Amino acid sequence: MSSDNQPPCAPDPPLTCAVCPRLVGLRSELRARHPDWFNAPVPSFGADDPRLLIVGLAPGMRGANRTGRPFTGDYAGDLLFETMLEFGFAEGAYAADPGDGLTLRQALITNAVRCLPPENKPTGAEIKACRPYLLATLDQAPSLAAVLVLGRIAHDTFLTALGMRKSAFPFSHGAEHTLPGPRPLRLFDSYHCSRYNTNTGRLTPAMFKSVFSRIRETLDREV
Ligand code: URA
Repeated sequence: MSSDNQPPCAPDPPLTCAVCPRLVGLRSELRARHPDWFNAPVPSFGADDPRLLIVGLAPGMRGANRTGRPFTGDYAGDLLFETMLEFGFAEGAYAADPGDGLTLRQALITNAVRCLPPENKPTGAEIKACRPYLLATLDQAPSLAAVLVLGRIAHDTFLTALGMRKSAFPFSHGAEHTLPGPRPLRLFDSYHCSRYNTNTGRLTPAMFKSVFSRIRETLDREV
């Protein structure tokens, strides 16, 4: 699955990863200010052999960066987990806490960048530095059939990681693409379920659910 000759790595960065100086700087500041927070690269969360991979952007400061689980404690997580529960991709109850017992079914959630970036804006270099972990995550998901990218940056990051041209698979909310390869993947685009996008009405719960409904249909068809 790897698009280049990078050496294989683990699917999650070490908690002490020091590759991106800007992100390490922010992490150190936050460790001093909030020693009880997670403040480290956030590992993926979900099923061991997922059929659906959800790719977010990066941990939110008081969400995943605080709790250590993607989208957990974030405003964005409320809509994401509610929708995953509705469409059978999660089981239990989401309580914005990694100890809530929520489990994901057939799905894995990861982020294009695993560390908290200032102002939620990772640089191109930071996205590139985290790419080996996205590729390693894919390599460890042999049953993957669908990928949901949340927002344009996740979309572009995913295509670049696979060595595919962005112009061949343009991002738009609700778009579906079939990615060629030894194991064809169905790529679903959605606007990110961020507070900004939901508060401004750019992404409504109905729009988000409609994407999940198509993912569910696609996966059920392919069983
Ligand atoms: N929290 C995450 O883990 N990822 C996002 O993209 C946004 C919030």
